[in-house]
Amino acid sequence: MSQVRSTNVDARASLARLFAPIAADLAQVDRRLQTELRHPNPFIDELAQHSFRMGGKRLRPALLLLAAKAVGPVTDDHRTLAAVVEMIHTATLVHDDVLDEADVRRHLDTVNARWNNQTSVLLGDFLFTHAFYLASTLETTFGCRVIGEATNTVCEGELRQTAGAGNFWLPREEYLAIIEAKTAELCACCCRLGAHYAGADPAVEDKLRIFGRKLGMAFQIVDDLLDLEGEEETTGKSLGTDLANRKMTLPLILLRDQLAPQELSRLQGLFEESDANHGGMLVSWLEESSALQAARLVAERYAMEAAGTLSGLEDTDAKRTLIELCRFVVARNA
Ligand code: IPE
Ligand code: IPE
Ligand code: MG
Ligand code: MG
Repeated sequence: MSQVRSTNVDARASLARLFAPIAADLAQVDRRLQTELRHPNPFIDELAQHSFRMGGKRLRPALLLLAAKAVGPVTDDHRTLAAVVEMIHTATLVHDDVLDEADVRRHLDTVNARWNNQTSVLLGDFLFTHAFYLASTLETTFGCRVIGEATNTVCEGELRQTAGAGNFWLPREEYLAIIEAKTAELCACCCRLGAHYAGADPAVEDKLRIFGRKLGMAFQIVDDLLDLEGEEETTGKSLGTDLANRKMTLPLILLRDQLAPQELSRLQGLFEESDANHGGMLVSWLEESSALQAARLVAERYAMEAAGTLSGLEDTDAKRTLIELCRFVVARNA
């Protein structure tokens, strides 16, 4: 897995290639999302369609389908669950854009920018409740229960992040616990469900769950790097929001933990006054230090560990794709 370290691959082109083995299933999931969220009320219909237009990367449904394929056959239950997790993910984004006061998402205005915060809160709720309704249509309650637990953990992560905002001294362990809850848990849940509904034995289900969690950690660390050094045109979303909202992310934590006292108070000052100007100075400081690279190395380590968890699994196309996804999450530009 030394190749984990390639940088800056074009996300859309890479994903189209990587998702080829599950392209037909993913297309069905997309159609399912479209039809599930049609609504006779034109305003609700427009809102729901807006949040899925242009599409995101569809990473979570892809993880669920690939984990299934790595273990056994992909079934209709998998496709339903894949639509459910993408709906949950989209709901968290609609709410997150209110929290972060973001204007652009998936190359479009955010719901809060085009309409308002009230509409975003209610649309997010609408997507959450529809997701759980859909999960409850399965024969067994397992999926609904596991997704309920994971969604609860995501909310816990966002709450802990809100509580920690503005805290320059946020411990590295707390940062890691926050990203594990808000991002890695849903990825873990997707891989676990894919395996479970393909008939995996508990040990294999657990391996895939750990794979998803480690991949999710790498994914969020790179997302935090993109927030500092990415391009809005490529990512299709508002960037710089972490500093604007005084969120300590890994590069800043690593820089902080290597500074001498006088430099520390200057860094703290910039962080606490972090408007567009100070934000720019902070980013330059990060670029001149080794902190961005050090954070990238931490992401690479998680991605490598994720790939390692699959070592006992039979060699299939799906397993190879999951391993390639480990490279993708650290090399992506969107
Ligand atoms: C964004 O997730 C939120 C994070 C957890 C970082 P994605 O980057 O997967 O967003 P989409 O689905 O592609 O829009
Ligand atoms: C949000 O993290 C993760 C969620 C659980 C929604 P970010 O705030 O970093 O996600 P982006 O950058 O807005 O997509
Ligand atoms: Mg955000
Ligand atoms: Mg982000």
